Amino acid sequence: MTVDDLGRLSEDDARPPHPALTAELGQAELQITGRLLQASNATFLAELETDGNPIECVYKPLEGERPLWDFPHRTLGLREVAAYEVSRIGGFDCVPVTVLFDGPFGPGSLQVWVEVDEAATNKLVDLVPSSAVPQQGWFASVEGFDANDHPVSVIHADIADLRLLAVFDVLINNADRKGGHILGSAGRVFGVDHGVSFHTDHKLRTLLWGWAGCELNLRELAAVRKARDEAPDQLGTLLSDREIAALVRRADLLLTRRRLPRPRGEWPSIPWPPF
Ligand SMILES: Nc1ncnc2c1ncn2[C@@H]1O[C@H](COP(=O)(O)OP(=O)(O)O)[C@@H](O)[C@H]1O
Ligand SMILES: [Mg+2]
Repeated sequence: MTVDDLGRLSEDDARPPHPALTAELGQAELQITGRLLQASNATFLAELETDGNPIECVYKPLEGERPLWDFPHRTLGLREVAAYEVSRIGGFDCVPVTVLFDGPFGPGSLQVWVEVDEAATNKLVDLVPSSAVPQQGWFASVEGFDANDHPVSVIHADIADLRLLAVFDVLINNADRKGGHILGSAGRVFGVDHGVSFHTDHKLRTLLWGWAGCELNLRELAAVRKARDEAPDQLGTLLSDREIAALVRRADLLLTRRRLPRPRGEWPSIPWPPF
């Protein structure tokens, strides 16, 4: 990816297109094939029966959302789609294609399943004994104790695409960037589970604090600027006017300060559990 003198992204990177960024999820029959039991909401694995090969997806019906005290009920699926739109429009390219879909359990979000590369994913976020935190290339973001009372650390890698995801999370005010929501696939970094994003109050909870206070680079600034200028018009059916205005405010703050924020005291800054 290159950036011109005005800080605009001119062309995308040379990497081959990733199916999770290019799949077309049109209206077609959706076959439920399983349920994700580790998920906190009714989250289904499904196959979209398109003309070509069936597309593996994650389907989250709005009806299956567990009510939360701080987010309006049956809006999490809309936030999933809004997160994809911000990622696509800004050129963050860190969220698999996600659309609103009327499935067998009613309207909800439908997201392309990412073929996860386990080894690559473990090189993004990991849990290690605190004595074994690597000296270089990694940041320790959470310290704790394992079942045998040995100190352990959650660590994340110092990688440009992961840092772009951290910027994206600040922009969408993601309240749940835990380890299991960060996936490595074909040389790319994907984030999933953006149902608790876009609140008007500050709710950023993430493991990705390694770059707190660092200056944003041109690629990051360009993505924030593009999302700020072009995404609000596309979000009217997904977020409230206040939530869209808050998104613009967060973008403006990033563009003015030109730095990743540091954790704030009034809200727990780490998701729990971290994985
Ligand atoms: N699009 C996806 N591709 C691959 N794995 C996914 C995808 N979406 C979710 N997962 C996996 O399924 C788990 C549960 O899904 P998640 O979106 O976190 O559900 P919930 O909103 O119920 O917490 C995630 O932690 C991740 O490991
Ligand atoms: Mg989850």
